[in-house]
Amino acid sequence: MFASLALFLLALTFFLLLFQTRRPKNFPPGPRAIPILGNLLDLNLESPIADLERLSKRYGNVYSLFIGPKPAVIINGLQALKEALVNKGAALSGRPQEQMVNHAVRVKAHAPGVILADYSPTWKEHRRFGLMTLRNFGLGKTSMEQRILGEIQHVTKLLEQSVGKPTDPHVLFHNAAANVICQVLFAKRFDYDDEFMKFSVRLFQDTSKLINGRWGMIYDTIPMVRNLPLPFQKAFQLFALSYEKRLQIMAESKKSRIPGKPRHFIDCYLDELDKRGNDGSSFSEDQLCALLLDLHFAGTDTTANTLLAGFLYLMNYPEVQERCQQEIDKILDGKDHASFEDRDQMPYVQAVIHEIQRMANIVPLSVYHCTTQDTELMGYSIPRGTTIIPNLTSVLFEEGQWKYPREFNPENFLNDKGEFFKPEAFMPFSIGPRVCLGEALARMELFLFLVSLLRKFKFIWPEDAGEPDYTPVYGTTQTPKPYRMKVQLRGTA
Ligand code: HEM
Ligand SMILES: *[C@@H]1O[C@H](CO)[C@@H](O)[C@H](O)[C@H]1NC(C)=O
Repeated sequence: MFASLALFLLALTFFLLLFQTRRPKNFPPGPRAIPILGNLLDLNLESPIADLERLSKRYGNVYSLFIGPKPAVIINGLQALKEALVNKGAALSGRPQEQMVNHAVRVKAHAPGVILADYSPTWKEHRRFGLMTLRNFGLGKTSMEQRILGEIQHVTKLLEQSVGKPTDPHVLFHNAAANVICQVLFAKRFDYDDEFMKFSVRLFQDTSKLINGRWGMIYDTIPMVRNLPLPFQKAFQLFALSYEKRLQIMAESKKSRIPGKPRHFIDCYLDELDKRGNDGSSFSEDQLCALLLDLHFAGTDTTANTLLAGFLYLMNYPEVQERCQQEIDKILDGKDHASFEDRDQMPYVQAVIHEIQRMANIVPLSVYHCTTQDTELMGYSIPRGTTIIPNLTSVLFEEGQWKYPREFNPENFLNDKGEFFKPEAFMPFSIGPRVCLGEALARMELFLFLVSLLRKFKFIWPEDAGEPDYTPVYGTTQTPKPYRMKVQLRGTA
C-alpha cells in the first residue's frame, strides 16, 4: 500500500518535471501555466480573441503563453514587430518544425516545401526560385495579367447569370482565386464543379479546421496520443490523398514536357532540376511536390477571402463603391480592359483596396515564426527554438498609426491632396525575410478583379439581408461570414 503510494508520487513528480512549465530566465512575461496543458485552459479555443486581448493588455507588447509544454512569444504593435521581423529578421525567421501541420503536410523529411521550411538553404533557394518564376520568367507567352483577366471573364459570365437573384459568392471567388494559381502551376483551369477543385477546397477547409482547432492542440501537446484513431487522422488521410494527386499531375507533365519550353511552374522546376543536375542543392522532385501544395494553398483562401470581405464592405458603403466606379470609368474610358499599370492613375481605388485588406485582416497572426538562435528582443531573452507569433492584427488597427483605426475609411490611405500613400503599419502580407511570397501576384489579382467587376456591375446588399456582420470567422485565415449579394449590370462598358 505504502509502496504503491510512494511509487505513484514518484511517477507524478517525474511527470511534472518532464512537463514542467517554467519560463526561461528573462523571458517575456505571461500567465502562469499548468503542466502539460500550459495555458490552454485560459483560452476559449473556438474564439480566443477576447481572452488574448485581456492578456496582451495585462502583459504588454511582448508576452508569452504556453501552448502545451513550450512557451510561445506573442509580439504586438508596429515598433516591436519591426524590431522582431526586420531588424532581427535572420534570428526570428525560422518556422516551428514539430507541430501537427508539419507532420501532416510533409512529403518527405528532406522536402519541407517553402511555407513551413525552417530558415535554411532549402528555404532560401526555393523562395528565390518561387519569386522569380512567379515574376514570369520562363512562364511562356501568356502574362500573369492575361491569365487573371481570363479568369475574370468566367466570373463575369457567372455573375451575369445571377443578375436579379441574390447569390452567395463564396464558392465563386474561391474557385476563381484557385484557378489563377492553378494556371500558373499546371497551365490548366478547372470548371467550378470539377472533382480536383472540389477536393482541394475540402482539403484546405477541413484540414485547417482540424489543425487549428482543439484536435490540433491536443496533437501538439500530448505526443502519446498521436497514433490513436482520433479525428486528426482525417487530416493525415486527406494530405496523403493530395500527395497522390500531385504525383499524378507531375507524372503527366513529365510525359508531355519539352525541356527548355516550360508551359507552367512544374516545367520550370524540372528545367531547373536538369540545369542543376546533382549539384548538391536542395532541388528535388519531392520538393517540387511540396511546393505545389504550398503555392496552391497559400494562393487560394487568402485572395478569395479578401475579395469576399471587399464586396461585403463595398455593398454596405455604396458611396465608396460609386466613387470607385467614377474613377474607373474615367481612367478606363475607351479601353477594353483594366491593366495593373492603371493603378497609378487610380489613387482612390488603390486606397479602397488597401483599406479592404486592412479591415479584412485575413491572416491575423501571420504564419508562426521561430527563433533560429538565442535572441535579445525588446530587453527580453528568447532562447533558440521558441515559437514566435507576430500579431499582425495589433498593427493593422493600432491606435496612433491610422487616421481612423477602427472604421472602414479609405481616407486612411489618402493624404491631404487626395493622393494615395501607404502607412508603415500596413502589413497584411507581414514584413521581413518571410514576407508573403505571393504579394505581387495577390495585389495584381485584387486590383484586376475589383476594377473589372466594379466597372461592369453594381453590387447591392439585399434588402432582406438585415444588418451586415463584419466580424470574420476566426482561423489561421479569417473568412467573412456567409452573405448574399445582388448584382446589377451598369450602363457603361
Ligand atoms: C491577399 C492575399 C494574401 C495575403 C493577405 C497573404 C499573406 C501572407 C502572410 C501573412 C504570410 C506569412 C508571412 C510570415 O511568415 O511572416 C504569407 C506567406 C506566404 N504566402 Fe501569402 N498572402 C496572400 C496571397 C498569396 C498568394 C496569391 C500566394 C501565391 C503564390 C502566396 C504565397 C505565400 C507563400 C509561399 C508564403 C510563405 C513565404 C515564406 O515562408 O517564405 N500568398 N502570406
Ligand atoms: C492581437 O492584437 C489584437 C488587437 O490588439 C488583440 O485583440 C488580440 O487579442 C491579439 N492577439 C494575441 C494572440 O495577442
